[in-house]
Amino acid sequence: MTTLTQDELKTLVGRAALDYVVPGEIVGVGTGSTVNKFIDALASMKDQIRGAVSSSVASTERLRALGIPVLDANEVQSLSVYVDGADEIDPQGHMIKGGGAALTREKIVAALSARFVCIADESKWVPVLGAFPLPVEVIPMAAQQIARQFAAMGGQAQLRLKDGVPLVTDNGQHILDVTGLQIAGRLAFERQVNNWPGVVTVGVFAHQKADVCLLGTAAGVKTCVF
Ligand code: 5RP
Repeated sequence: MTTLTQDELKTLVGRAALDYVVPGEIVGVGTGSTVNKFIDALASMKDQIRGAVSSSVASTERLRALGIPVLDANEVQSLSVYVDGADEIDPQGHMIKGGGAALTREKIVAALSARFVCIADESKWVPVLGAFPLPVEVIPMAAQQIARQFAAMGGQAQLRLKDGVPLVTDNGQHILDVTGLQIAGRLAFERQVNNWPGVVTVGVFAHQKADVCLLGTAAGVKTCVF
């Protein structure tokens, strides 16, 4: 058996997600290197869909470059399906997301969607969330206050940098990456952190968890339904 590279596994699940796209409808599109494979595959059925609602400037640019119309989220009331990757996904479909700094728009599009299809290579599958540093989008003036609140929970928050300066998200905000946390009660944790003043979005996706995960494994695409 030939071993597939991580990139090939991403291509595999990106293509497999086409089976979940409903012809004649608008599809929700996430962000990241795995989703890029999905976007490339989606171009093959661009004449069968009405367009996409995108979760980032990067995905919007890629979709448009391939001739797929991108609609504003305010133009749609609901979507049947949202396809996105994850930094970690657990056996219940809860995820950590935000490695690509797009977590807030990702959660907004996920919340518009009836079904969240997560596409991931098997390195993302974990028994318990928390090894991946937890991304949190924050209003810059609240960053240190929020970092202290995480410290009180045993976590260490680092301001994410890009080219030596704080990374600025598509929403004009900053990202804290938090290590050392125990994320036991995922729903309660998500609610609690989202409630802190200055938090835009925490990267735990428990309320907007996956309904299906297409996992790229050495044996092919494994479908997990939650
Ligand atoms: C972006 C995300 C991505 O879905 C996550 O980081 C996975 O990305 P990749 O497919 O490149 O591994 O949450 O904010």
